[in-house]
Amino acid sequence: MRKIDISKWTAFILFALTSLQINVSWGQENQPLIPKPVSEFKRSGQFILSGKTKILIPADNTELQTIADLFIGDITELSGISIEKGERKAKSTIEFRLNTVADSLLGTEGYKMKIASGHVLIQANQPQGIFYGVQTFLQKIPAKSAAQVPVACADITDYPRFGWRGLMLDVSRHFFTKDEVKRYIDQMAKYKYNVFHWHLTDDPGWRIEIKSLPELTSVGSWRVPRTGNFGHFQPPFPGEEATDGGFYTQEDIREVVKYAQERFVTIVPEIDVPGHSLALIASYPDASCTQVKYPVNAGFAMPVDRVLCAGNEDNFKKLELIFSEVASLFPGEYVHIGGDEAEKEYWRNCPKCQQRMKTEGLKTEEELQSYFIKRVSKILDANGKKLIGWDEILEGGLAPDATVMSWRGTEGGAAAAKAGHPVIMTPNEFCYLDHTQGENVIERFGILFCCFMRMREVYKFNPNEGVADSSFVLGAQGNLWTEVVPNYRRAEYMTWPRGMALSEIMWSPTGNRNWDEFVLRIENHFPRFEQAEVNYSPAIYDPDIEMVETDAGEYQIVFTPEIKGLDIYYTFDMTFPDKFYPKYKNEPISIPSGATEIWAITYRDGKPLGRLLVITLDELKNRLEKKK
Ligand code: ACM
Ligand code: ZN
Repeated sequence: MRKIDISKWTAFILFALTSLQINVSWGQENQPLIPKPVSEFKRSGQFILSGKTKILIPADNTELQTIADLFIGDITELSGISIEKGERKAKSTIEFRLNTVADSLLGTEGYKMKIASGHVLIQANQPQGIFYGVQTFLQKIPAKSAAQVPVACADITDYPRFGWRGLMLDVSRHFFTKDEVKRYIDQMAKYKYNVFHWHLTDDPGWRIEIKSLPELTSVGSWRVPRTGNFGHFQPPFPGEEATDGGFYTQEDIREVVKYAQERFVTIVPEIDVPGHSLALIASYPDASCTQVKYPVNAGFAMPVDRVLCAGNEDNFKKLELIFSEVASLFPGEYVHIGGDEAEKEYWRNCPKCQQRMKTEGLKTEEELQSYFIKRVSKILDANGKKLIGWDEILEGGLAPDATVMSWRGTEGGAAAAKAGHPVIMTPNEFCYLDHTQGENVIERFGILFCCFMRMREVYKFNPNEGVADSSFVLGAQGNLWTEVVPNYRRAEYMTWPRGMALSEIMWSPTGNRNWDEFVLRIENHFPRFEQAEVNYSPAIYDPDIEMVETDAGEYQIVFTPEIKGLDIYYTFDMTFPDKFYPKYKNEPISIPSGATEIWAITYRDGKPLGRLLVITLDELKNRLEKKK
């Protein structure tokens, strides 16, 4: 994807002018935007959206017609107002206009919008820009608004910082239906994401129909049902049927691709090889080095050989079949081939892999991995697609035209960029949406109880950091792995609101980030989620809690709120705290004798806001010991 090249001076002037806009106050007619546009100048007066408003579009442009149809549907959903396409003579109009001479500032995705009384003009070089202008206009309409919606007059100029603004959904560890995937894409497009990375295969399930290899879905898509604690599931019982799972038919895939295209979202399918291939190996046991027959595994505690044998020529024949069908289904230029976490000890102990290394003159198993990826790259080449892989594909040497998705920090991405390869930054510290977003006792668990990622940290992410030549950074991506995301409501909960922070990181200029101001905008968007029945986490209202030890050896309790303006009420007496209980005064609290638990809740303006936090002092002490 192309990065937009804007003149430094133009960007500076726009930024300086935008920064002058202080005293943000949002009345009904002045709703805040996420991601924040490059520039927005408020003017006096109002545009009134009502049932009389007409949309003006050039008659011959089908893409703009589709955008208008989606716009009409979204307006009705937000406000109940029903508008139509119409004619210029109407008194209230919203006009989509494509530039006849391209405006170089806007690139392919940018737009300008002039909201005046009686007329809104959205102008862009391409329909994609109009689509983003429309998303901005929709955010100007408050949730649950009435039959007439005032929108303050303004001039907006807007274009993205990065051309790759992605979200990844893992549909292998838990399967999400075609309709759920569409809903996910619809929501991400509202925040100007343009890449949906569809993690279609992994150990716990194969999710895409491959007509030439039917066992991949008749066997590989199904596992025994388990509910609860992912890390501790029982292996299949003797004779137990594999009834949990599912897959997308090729017809389903085409439908989702079209749905995404209408929203200017490119789908990047991932077929994860040579590691994370248990679902394929369960379907075709000859594919692994050990050739042991395993069931598809939902993360049960059992050691399995889940890597494809690199010495088995038949595996490459299978991959040719798989990737040629995948390439024919997805019109985008990229296919993601995974490449992460291949367990090389199986290759080390496999005569066929070792023979391959000898024949090809490869000295290490890392070079064997590089050999594997280069062969996959040739298969993609033959099918007209470009290869993306996780940063492990750097090991043993990168395939010539590979694009690297950097997940173990940004170092892999920086190294790939230095070697002249395009990169997408998805460091787990800032981009892994499966990580817990607040206090664990409320959020329960994120991935394997290990990792925390408050939205406040996400908002500090800079995809270009540490990269000498940032022109190689295509953009960034949030990744939702689903070991501990057992249903779609939870997928939404883990994605939002952190997905809004990431969207702003990827779209908006870096200069004007202000966490406190961002939180106000985020909160203003929560009612939109409620109205659309999209789940989101209210974790920003729940403080972190920790035990500290003074120099004198006394244990004390400290709360750290994620946002300003919260009152924290607490108690050690195991009763429900409210605003008549002790209030936290931003200094460590001593623990009364005999106490075993602390309970706490946040209030704002005298009203309860956060959830009840109940935690044992033993748990807090354990955490303190672990830190030491
Ligand atoms: C990954 O998280 N294994 C890419
Ligand atoms: Zn092998």
